[in-house]
Amino acid sequence: MRDLAHAGAFHGLPPHRGGVLKWIGNKHRVAATIVANLPKDFSLYLEPFVGSGAVLAELAPRVAIASDALAPLIAIHRRVQHDATALVEAYRQRIVESEASGSREGIEGYYRSVRERYNAAPNADDLLFLARTCYGGVIRFSARGEMNTPCGVHRPIRAETLAARVAAWQPRVAGVRFEVMDFEAAIDGAGPGALVYCDPPYSDSEGTLYGAQAFSLERLLAAIERAKARGARVALSIDGTKRSGRKVIELALPERLFESESLVDVGRSMLRRFQLEGQTLEGERVADRLLLTWAT
Ligand SMILES: C[S@@+](CC[C@H](N)C(=O)[O-])C[C@H]1O[C@@H](n2cnc3c(N)ncnc32)[C@H](O)[C@@H]1O
Repeated sequence: MRDLAHAGAFHGLPPHRGGVLKWIGNKHRVAATIVANLPKDFSLYLEPFVGSGAVLAELAPRVAIASDALAPLIAIHRRVQHDATALVEAYRQRIVESEASGSREGIEGYYRSVRERYNAAPNADDLLFLARTCYGGVIRFSARGEMNTPCGVHRPIRAETLAARVAAWQPRVAGVRFEVMDFEAAIDGAGPGALVYCDPPYSDSEGTLYGAQAFSLERLLAAIERAKARGARVALSIDGTKRSGRKVIELALPERLFESESLVDVGRSMLRRFQLEGQTLEGERVADRLLLTWAT
């Protein structure tokens, strides 16, 4: 019954099981905890780094603008709202074609052909398939802007499962306007009464993730400061890989910008840190910090 007290959110929706998108850095595991830390009385909800929309769907805001710099990602969200049958059918077609290619080599070859097609003409249908089948949901781009993640070894979810997830997602995003936007423009739209939740890329050193959009933590902190001065409340997740986690820890946050902090989830972090020492840690969380511009 967690959202009974969220005046700005829809109430009584059936639970949803799993995201439509598989997305590196997604907050599905901790979305309920994050939402429990958000204020109840917002008039407008803004999520400027929406990604797969884990927190957005958990909150199910009545009035919201969710944005991201990656246009084909926003196209997926819009199609979940308005063109879901075609989106699921396009996914089904790709899964059928992938399975028909038989061997592991065949599946990888099919994956590469979809990736090539996506890179030639970025689009929602191919991105959804790639996100669900690529290695770890890692949407990684080369310096030339081409998605270059290899094929994952897991079995992607069936089209029927996707259809069920889309159906559960729809009422949760019914009040949302999805926009392609840089985070700064999005946050600058937050006035008094607005609630903003930010889950940015971990650091500017990881520009290859998500398509090398111009992200700078300094620019984000300045935008948050302006929003707070206008009377908006802003929550910021800072978490990440071991490498960027170190970088975040070194960060000097502006004094008094954040008035409280929660440690949302430290679950497996120490164990993973120990086990994975010296290996590639891309996608391995070590801590989830939630910074709030209001006192709790
Ligand atoms: C850590 S992910 C968000 C994950 C999301 N919370 C979820 O649950 O899936 C960060 C997102 O920021 C987006 N992004 C990167 N640079 C951006 C920018 N300059 N403006 C807006 N969005 C940006 C990426 O495309 C990516 O989807």
